[in-house]
Amino acid sequence: MFQSSEIYGGLSGAWDYGPLGVELKQNIKNCWWDFMVRSRENVVGMDGAILMAPEVWVASGHVSGFHDPLVDCRDTKKRYRYDQLYVYKHSSRDDLPCFAFTESDPAPALSKIKKLAKGTSPEDYEIIALEKAEGLDLARVIGPDTNDPGTLTEPRQFNLMFKTQLGAVEGEAAEIYLRPETAQAIFVNFKNVQQTTRQRVPFGIAQIGKAFRNEIVTKSFIFRSREFEQMEMQFFIPPDEDEERYEEWREIRMNYYTDVLGISKEKLDWQPHPPDKLAHYAKAAADIAFEFPMGWQEIEGIHNRGDFDLSQHAKHSGKDMSYRDPVTNETFMPKVIETSAGVDRSVLMALCAAFSEVEEVGEDHKRETRSLLQFHPNIAPISVAVFPLSKKDELTGPSLKLANELRAAGLRTEFDVTGSIGKRYRRQDEVGTPFCVTFDFDSLEDQAVTIRHRDTMEQERVALDRVGEVLARNIREW
Ligand code: GAP
Repeated sequence: MFQSSEIYGGLSGAWDYGPLGVELKQNIKNCWWDFMVRSRENVVGMDGAILMAPEVWVASGHVSGFHDPLVDCRDTKKRYRYDQLYVYKHSSRDDLPCFAFTESDPAPALSKIKKLAKGTSPEDYEIIALEKAEGLDLARVIGPDTNDPGTLTEPRQFNLMFKTQLGAVEGEAAEIYLRPETAQAIFVNFKNVQQTTRQRVPFGIAQIGKAFRNEIVTKSFIFRSREFEQMEMQFFIPPDEDEERYEEWREIRMNYYTDVLGISKEKLDWQPHPPDKLAHYAKAAADIAFEFPMGWQEIEGIHNRGDFDLSQHAKHSGKDMSYRDPVTNETFMPKVIETSAGVDRSVLMALCAAFSEVEEVGEDHKRETRSLLQFHPNIAPISVAVFPLSKKDELTGPSLKLANELRAAGLRTEFDVTGSIGKRYRRQDEVGTPFCVTFDFDSLEDQAVTIRHRDTMEQERVALDRVGEVLARNIREW
């Protein structure tokens, strides 16, 4: 992955995926789509436009409610999320400055206390969330990136939606938003999809697509960016089923991470949203969190949205969004359980979960570190690499033929002739290829090749005409 517009110094909060990155990302999206849509009778897909009528975002509550509290530093011009600022405040003296820091890194605040508040020690200070420090005068607070007190502005609400102009006309009438979530395209199309597919409630509509948020602070690589992708599913249900369906989808979605993406159970956990932190549309919500190197962080939210969105769109559009069951003739406004996962966060999780380093003795008998990405074969950018032992035509011809056959059989295949076999193995280990196949001089005689397994480094000799079948079985039984 590369920062967007890198040669111009980079655009913050936007990322480009290179050849291997896009394969990993695409595989993650395919896994989700197969699991959520193709393997279910009662979930169908759609692909909505990024640009939607501005009224959508008024009805959804995003115009009035989708903000984060923003604090500016007049000195450094840096911006912070007020709800993510913490202060060291002296426990008894009001004449001393307070030191604000961003949650992830208290070290700069500690070194400033030593430098600027001589005669006191960090133990004399208490740490409080700035938001909760009632009565604290901001004039006493030294911002995270400055040494002077009083440079932080009072917090103000900052709407996270990007605005753009529709067509050639300037002015407020033509102002529209880039969607901050994919979900609304599903809600406004509920009736179109239901009527054209003849699905009966309960059923779901799923979508993968880009979303945009003008985040105040972007951080941790692709974890929080301003342009990202979501994989969302809205499951429409009768009004009395929300609690039971919420629990059901929580379980389904947690199992997906372990069973389909191969993430270990210990690295995953639930983070329920306390009632005072619920999004404006949610009746109940819990995040699936992964243990990243920077701590436990959300990768997906499961939300009980009630009938908030359909009711709002009915009210604002004047269209009837209710559902009449063709069998019972009952009419009701369906409630919705939403599963909302980030593609980019899943990519980052997959990378963090797969990375390991192993000490071993190399080809030249020196100790070396072997870096590995132990991806599940479902998501590995390359499934199999095929190597001729030497560049001689007698080996490259048949091994290239084998590579083409594996590719035609649906395996993501790479053919590599450069460097020693050991180097070629290392290259594939580093990008997470689960299998390597070597065609050597004996292969010409015995019509067999060596399959080498990434994680165990075990090697097995397999007949040429059985390679595809053996690899497919290994992937199935992983
Ligand atoms: N429709 C509900 C919704 O959008 P959310 O919790 O705001 O809920 C859902 O977002 C998921 O989208 C998150 O769990 C995360 O994976 C991803 N996401 C949200 N904001 C993001 C950002 N700025 N950068 C990358 N991924 C983001």
